Amino acid sequence: MMAIAVASPKDLAETCEIGEKKAMDIIEGAKLCADIGGFETGDSILERRKAVTKLTTGSKAFDELMGGGLESQSIVEFFGEFGSCKTQVCFQLAVNATLPEERGGLDSEVIMIDTENTFRPERIIQMSNYLGVDPEDTLRKIHVARAFNSQHQILLVDKAIELAQTKKIRLMIVDSLTSHFRAEYLGRGALAERQQVLNRHMHDLLNFATLNNAVIAVTNQVAAKPDAFFGDPTRPIGGHIVGHTATFRLYLRKGKAGKRIARLIDSPNLPEGEAVFSVTEDGIKD
Ligand code: GTP
Ligand code: MG
Repeated sequence: MMAIAVASPKDLAETCEIGEKKAMDIIEGAKLCADIGGFETGDSILERRKAVTKLTTGSKAFDELMGGGLESQSIVEFFGEFGSCKTQVCFQLAVNATLPEERGGLDSEVIMIDTENTFRPERIIQMSNYLGVDPEDTLRKIHVARAFNSQHQILLVDKAIELAQTKKIRLMIVDSLTSHFRAEYLGRGALAERQQVLNRHMHDLLNFATLNNAVIAVTNQVAAKPDAFFGDPTRPIGGHIVGHTATFRLYLRKGKAGKRIARLIDSPNLPEGEAVFSVTEDGIKD
């Protein structure tokens, strides 16, 4: 009901193949039914924030940068060039989330939306073995879906909401958040529409985070070389939309001797800073 109440008449009309006037009537009706609420007092927000727990990255330095780990009820964006270990970090988070809370986990199952076909169970097994947890058991807790295009990716969030009704899901990964959008909405002319769809997708994710007290980890590739379509190469795609909706933004880059550096760019309550970590066969470490 809420989704309809906040939909634009044009989108609803297109999706349902009805006229715009009718769509407007339906939206008006949905507004009456949905509890649009609006304002929440500071103390009730504080109450909800008390449920926030933190997910370990596997590296002490990285956790410290994040104030003790990745916060639930938030979206964490990892952006960086190819090979900057965005996917490796996602694998590690997936394994860690299955750990009990005393070990920095979320004691939960995981949803992974894989847009680039890079999920590797073999890596999950290696990381599980290192942590001394049963690899088979860990793999059973990680629910992977390939997203074939951006529309499919968006629909998979609805599926995730369904799955979260029967299973405890406190980590959702979208790797990569932006690759389909980048491939499908080409050229400047498509930019506005892409940003609008991406914006809605981000809000769906944020909603999932709030409802399930979950961490949302998303990745975003930046091109090393100038890109004819998207201009400034050092800027992650999705620009302002992704940046403003993500609660924390982390820039990952390669360092010397196989090291990786995470830089916290944007956070509502933490100072900017950097952490050095490494990726080994056993996973993410200091
Ligand atoms: P794109 O998805 O292409 O943008 O890259 P990404 O940022 O997701 O990079 P990814 O996480 O795939 O990182 C690949 C890098 O991880 C490789 O260059 C390796 O350095 C490292 N890596 C992957 N598997 C292993 C492993 O088993 N052992 C070690 N030591 N390093 C690994
Ligand atoms: Mg990757």
